[in-house]
Amino acid sequence: MIHVKTEREIKLMHEAGKLLAACHQEIAKLIEPGITTMEIDHFVETFLAKHGATPEQKGYRGYPYATCASINDEICHGFPRNEPLKEGDIVTIDFVVNLHGALADSAWTYAVGKVSEEVQKLLHVTEQSLYKGIEQAVIGNRIGDIGHAIQTYVEANGFSVVRDFTGHGIGPTIHEEPYIPHFGEKGKGMRLKEGMVITIEPMVNIGAWQSKMDQNGWTARTIDGSYSAQYEHTIAITKNGPLILTTLS
Ligand code: MF3
Ligand code: CO
Repeated sequence: MIHVKTEREIKLMHEAGKLLAACHQEIAKLIEPGITTMEIDHFVETFLAKHGATPEQKGYRGYPYATCASINDEICHGFPRNEPLKEGDIVTIDFVVNLHGALADSAWTYAVGKVSEEVQKLLHVTEQSLYKGIEQAVIGNRIGDIGHAIQTYVEANGFSVVRDFTGHGIGPTIHEEPYIPHFGEKGKGMRLKEGMVITIEPMVNIGAWQSKMDQNGWTARTIDGSYSAQYEHTIAITKNGPLILTTLS
């Protein structure tokens, strides 16, 4: 079932999203060789508590942490750990903010110190692919239009799009219908309607798109060990076009 939101509900989710964006802005300043993803996880939990919010992922289906922290070949749902990040690593920090019951979800991949040119290109292409997808998130378009735009752009740049994880509707719970693949065909799938709130969160690999699951049952990594990046925003479908809820303004 799809939970279409009222303007007021969207406004509250936007407040959660602004707080999430502010927290990402602080994370960006913390990322450097030597910091651990467990320290970042604790930072996020403290930051949210200070602002009257909670990390919705903690306890969700038994997930144990406030954030997902996916390093290098980890695609998503990496567990925060006590090992320091190193120069040349990339790390995706993904979390969901609950502010007075309103949710927002956003992930960002950060470079640790200086990364290779190929990895810089991966980050650039993955971030741009998110905006290619967002452009398609307009009333009357179909879900396949989003995936098609992302896949076409990513593959033209020589990278691959992960198939095993998708964007999703959000609110009142983290994962709601409709599911939004980051690949697909133009003109296929359900039509987007005013008031839908969805995430678009392409995961892009340097090598093959296939993933494998770690022993912990959560963390997905690339099958060939190639690096994987991800950028995610929460977006409302409105009369005035796509409204990104997870930005500062
Ligand atoms: N933020 C993640 C997403 O984009 C949610 C992960 S669920 C968790 O869908 F349990 F792993 F946190
Ligand atoms: Co999400």
